[in-house]
Amino acid sequence: MAQAAQLDPRSITEEGDFLQIKSVDHVHFYVGNAKHTMYYWWKGFGFTPVAYSGLETGNRDFASYVLQSGQIRLVVSAPYGPSSPLAAHHLLHGDGVKQIAIEVDDVEKAWRETTSRGGKSAWEPREQKDDNGVYRTAAIHTYGETLHVFVDRSGYKGVFAPTYRPINDKKAESLGLAAVDHMVGNVQLGKMNHWVNFYHQVMGFRQLLAFDDKDISTEYSALMSKVMQNGNGRVKFPINEPAEGKRKSQIEEYLDYYYTPGVQHLALATGDIIKTVRQLRANGIEFLRVPDAYYEMLPERVGDIKESLAEINELGILVDRDDEGYLLQIFSRPIQDRPTVFVEIIQRHGARGFGKGNFKALFESLELEQERRGNL
Ligand code: FE2
Repeated sequence: MAQAAQLDPRSITEEGDFLQIKSVDHVHFYVGNAKHTMYYWWKGFGFTPVAYSGLETGNRDFASYVLQSGQIRLVVSAPYGPSSPLAAHHLLHGDGVKQIAIEVDDVEKAWRETTSRGGKSAWEPREQKDDNGVYRTAAIHTYGETLHVFVDRSGYKGVFAPTYRPINDKKAESLGLAAVDHMVGNVQLGKMNHWVNFYHQVMGFRQLLAFDDKDISTEYSALMSKVMQNGNGRVKFPINEPAEGKRKSQIEEYLDYYYTPGVQHLALATGDIIKTVRQLRANGIEFLRVPDAYYEMLPERVGDIKESLAEINELGILVDRDDEGYLLQIFSRPIQDRPTVFVEIIQRHGARGFGKGNFKALFESLELEQERRGNL
């Protein structure tokens, strides 16, 4: 059973939400080869490359591409040489999420409020200017080497930020990926409550849900998870920590390969998961697959759903129901060589949960893959 929330969910109200987050502005990956990663999101996930920064635009430190699908904006950057800070990051972590940028009205205020509540500054409020106006940012540290960047682009009319120029010659066929539903962080054993408190005290988030090791355990391993949500509910950051089990938790495997806490997965929302996943599979994106027995139990477990069960089974999509409706979801294999960050595709029909009913089947298939890697 989910344990009672330890924080009073009423203690942060929408009116008391000092950050006033408008949306996730972008997610910035540091990678080994930005051109290849751009191609992967473009041809694999149907994102449109919209902006570029690099040597040709006066950026002598790193190559960078911005990609867009619906409201989702991804940035992928790679260093030009070993002295770049991006190179050190990549050496330690491999490809991974460095920055989760959130759009706010007032960068100065967001930075002041969070750092005065104990957030550690990564950079003070700063303005980057070019002919298109002023791009304002500030940043604080969160788990591992991950940063939250506060962005105010209201004074900036350019394609993304100074040094970036538009890409006009790369068309993409959208696969329907529309918004970031949630982004999950993996932290070390014993550190979950520290980060729950960070999101509560420093960022003004409240706890939406909690799952303990009885919810999320298999014969071999376990994890615990708490879901933190901002005042207006637009931004959800669940936090996972490993729990004691007979064998190595998937969270520990992540930490062994990322070397620090970091972003475990990016959940992207679609309005038509059948269409989206069919095309993703055709494009070569690989997903976890649960045993067929899962689908025999499904009608009894979730009742009537609009989608065809045959198609759900064929594509390996998972379904879960809660008091408010149901959701469909599927998880990719890691999107780089190391068993670290992966992508979830999710479609919600009312349900606001995270697929608790799928945890066991899902983690058993994850462990099978972990075993194949010699890491269980
Ligand atoms: Fe998720």
